[in-house]
Amino acid sequence: MKFLIDDANVAKIREICEYYPVDGVTTNPSILAKSGRNPYEVLKEIRGIIGAEADLHVQVISSEAGAMVEEGHKILAELGGGTFIKIPATQEGLKAMKILSGEGHRVTATAIYMPMQAYLAGMAGADYAAPYVNRIDNLGANGIETAKVIHDIFKKNGLKTEVLAASFKNSQQVLELAKYGIGAATIAAEVIEGLIRNASVAAAIEGFVSDFEALCGEGKTMLDC
Ligand code: E4P
Repeated sequence: MKFLIDDANVAKIREICEYYPVDGVTTNPSILAKSGRNPYEVLKEIRGIIGAEADLHVQVISSEAGAMVEEGHKILAELGGGTFIKIPATQEGLKAMKILSGEGHRVTATAIYMPMQAYLAGMAGADYAAPYVNRIDNLGANGIETAKVIHDIFKKNGLKTEVLAASFKNSQQVLELAKYGIGAATIAAEVIEGLIRNASVAAAIEGFVSDFEALCGEGKTMLDC
C-alpha cells in the first residue's frame, strides 16, 4: 500500500517526510484553503520537498468537463507532467477523465462515495479512485467495506485502477486497508502521527534504557559503554 500525506502544511509535510516512508502528497481545495496562500505557491513548495518523482495529486475546481481539462493542463504545466489530476467522479468528471487519460495524463477520481462511481472512473481511464472512508462512515454506511469492494471490482474487471483510500480518522481504518492490500492511502498529518503512538512501546523502551544505565551508567549507550 502506498502511503501519502493528505495535507498542504509545508512545515508538517517536511517533518513527516523526514521520519516516515512517504510516497507523495494529496491535496484538495479545502486543504489548500487552510494554508491561506496562493495554491500554486504552496504546491510548488510541496513539489520541492517531495521531489519530482514523488506522487502529487492536485484537484480541479471547475464543474464542466472542458474547463476541468483546461485546469488539468494548467496544473501539469505548473507542477510537472507526472502530477495526478484529481477530478470528482461526476458525469462531467468522467468525460474529463476520458479526455485527460486519453492524452496520457495521470488521473485520480475523487469524491467517491459509491462503488459504481469508482468502477466508471476506472473504465474512464483513472489511475486511482479515492473513496472517502470516514465520510462514508458518517453517512451510516461502511467506508472500509466500500474501499474493499472497489478494490475487488478493479481486480475482477482487469482494470489498472487502484484504490487511493482517503478521509481517515484513525489508525484502525488505515490498518484494515493495509491488511487488504489496497493500492494507496492518503492520510492527514495528525492521523499519521497517531499511527505508531503507543504508551506500551514508550514504556518498554524506557525500561530498556534504565536497565542499561543501571549496568553502564547514566547516558551511556552502545557507543561509549
Ligand atoms: C482526498 O482525496 C480527500 O479530499 C480528503 O482525504 C478528504 O478528507 P476529509 O474527509 O478528512 O476532509
